[in-house]
Amino acid sequence: MAEIDLQKIVSHCKEYGFIFPSSEIYDNLGAVYDYGPMGVELKNAIKEYWWKSMVQMNDNIVGIDSAIFMHPTTWKASGHVDSFSDPLIDNKDSKKRYRADVLLEEKIEKFKEKGLKELAKKGISETETDDVKAKASRDYNKGLILEAEYIKAAEAGDLKRYKELIEEYEIACEVSGSKNWTEVRQFNLMFATKLGSLEESATDLYLRPETAQGIFVNFLNVQKTSRMKIPFGIAQIGKAFRNEIVARQFIFRMREFEQMEMQFFVRPGTELEWFDKWKKIRLKWHLALGTASSNLRFHVHEKLAHYANAAEDIQFRFPIGFKELEGIHSRTDFDLTEHQKFSGKKLQYFDSELNQNYVPYVVETSIGLDRMFLRVMSESLKEEQLENGETRIVLNLPPALAPIKVAILPLVKKDGLPEKAKEIYNQLRFVGRTFYEEKDSIGKRYRRMDALGTPFCITVDHQTLEDNTVTIRERDSMNQERVHIDQIESIVRKQVDMNQLLQKAMI
Ligand code: GAP
Repeated sequence: MAEIDLQKIVSHCKEYGFIFPSSEIYDNLGAVYDYGPMGVELKNAIKEYWWKSMVQMNDNIVGIDSAIFMHPTTWKASGHVDSFSDPLIDNKDSKKRYRADVLLEEKIEKFKEKGLKELAKKGISETETDDVKAKASRDYNKGLILEAEYIKAAEAGDLKRYKELIEEYEIACEVSGSKNWTEVRQFNLMFATKLGSLEESATDLYLRPETAQGIFVNFLNVQKTSRMKIPFGIAQIGKAFRNEIVARQFIFRMREFEQMEMQFFVRPGTELEWFDKWKKIRLKWHLALGTASSNLRFHVHEKLAHYANAAEDIQFRFPIGFKELEGIHSRTDFDLTEHQKFSGKKLQYFDSELNQNYVPYVVETSIGLDRMFLRVMSESLKEEQLENGETRIVLNLPPALAPIKVAILPLVKKDGLPEKAKEIYNQLRFVGRTFYEEKDSIGKRYRRMDALGTPFCITVDHQTLEDNTVTIRERDSMNQERVHIDQIESIVRKQVDMNQLLQKAMI
């Protein structure tokens, strides 16, 4: 099976109506994308998988849908106005802009990867301690030294030191190849806009850079109206906006994207226990999709945000390497305490078992819906070499996520076959998105359905008119079987049922 690179995924998404560049007729808007007819179905199926497993199947988690616009003080309280920024550096020759922290993290990763290769040759395992690995490999040791320096600089917010490290470690611009860098400076990622009609009296607003704050400010509204008892969670799916500077990786890093976030409110002192529980729950959710466990790993944050006492990412092996897919963060009582301070309103919970009021601690799980879409595409898109020498492009999506569940294909456009096929279509559309197609040869139609990820194709032929049987073709095996029309619904329903995934994720 051929390796699929990011460019192939981008082309496939465009060609088959999954994702288009935004405002393409005006030459696109950078790092903004539109989902097409197939894309929106797949995206909705991912949302459904998350929402059902998170909200509908947990009696201690409820959902909300808060507004994108929030009172401007929200972002002061949350710390976004003062510190939601990236350290940027420009190369003076190419004029290309980079994130200084990313340049350093990539360099650390390169040293470590080179070191691990050296260690493998010496028969030393990856699971050895850093001490052992550093002694046996110079590159691994260099990676650890740079990492320690970088963390020190990050914790001190020392941008001058970032630049010194970039120069000391001779990091060059990938375009000009030069090491001629500007100073490092902070750049806030929030988009500002105005509320009100008159410029002078209008209020400055921000487009939310995360959905989480809509949950924090509604904490008491939800807790009281839903009579929730700690521990409990509030979840939501919604748009977030960030003025990303390094945004070249398709839907991996976008300026407008969607998040699926859940804040879990717990008794102070129990947060690390819940942090571990949520890591396990979320990993199981990802593995239920049939992913090889070697494609997923936890990454411990090198530098913790000032409000967190634990943070890890679930990384996925994207075609661009292992990258963050989801964050699991123990955010302490920081957000609720800050909102109390800035609003002057109490955001406390009365714990009747302890007979005590307190500000709950929070464990958050936060996943980018678009990044999850890219992950599903990355592992599903395959180029297969067939025995007859032809190449087949197939999207072997988990059937529950497939945009089209079943295609009804009359063999020819005459002899009453379209009419019979439409009868079957009318019956099957209650199972899930059903597609009817009579154009092109049957082989071409099968190939198109494979590329769209359709798990089943039903072919209606002359025999169907005689004995009410059809051919059902399964996407991955390409096996074809003759079955009675009455059997189709149960065969398809069994495979495309979201419960199949949910049971794997939750039991
Ligand atoms: N509330 C916590 C929070 O927002 P984050 O690590 O900044 O944490 C959470 O973002 C998730 O949102 C990431 O793991 C990623 O999947 C997604 N995400 C963040 N920035 C993104 C971007 N520019 N484009 C697409 N997805 C993004």
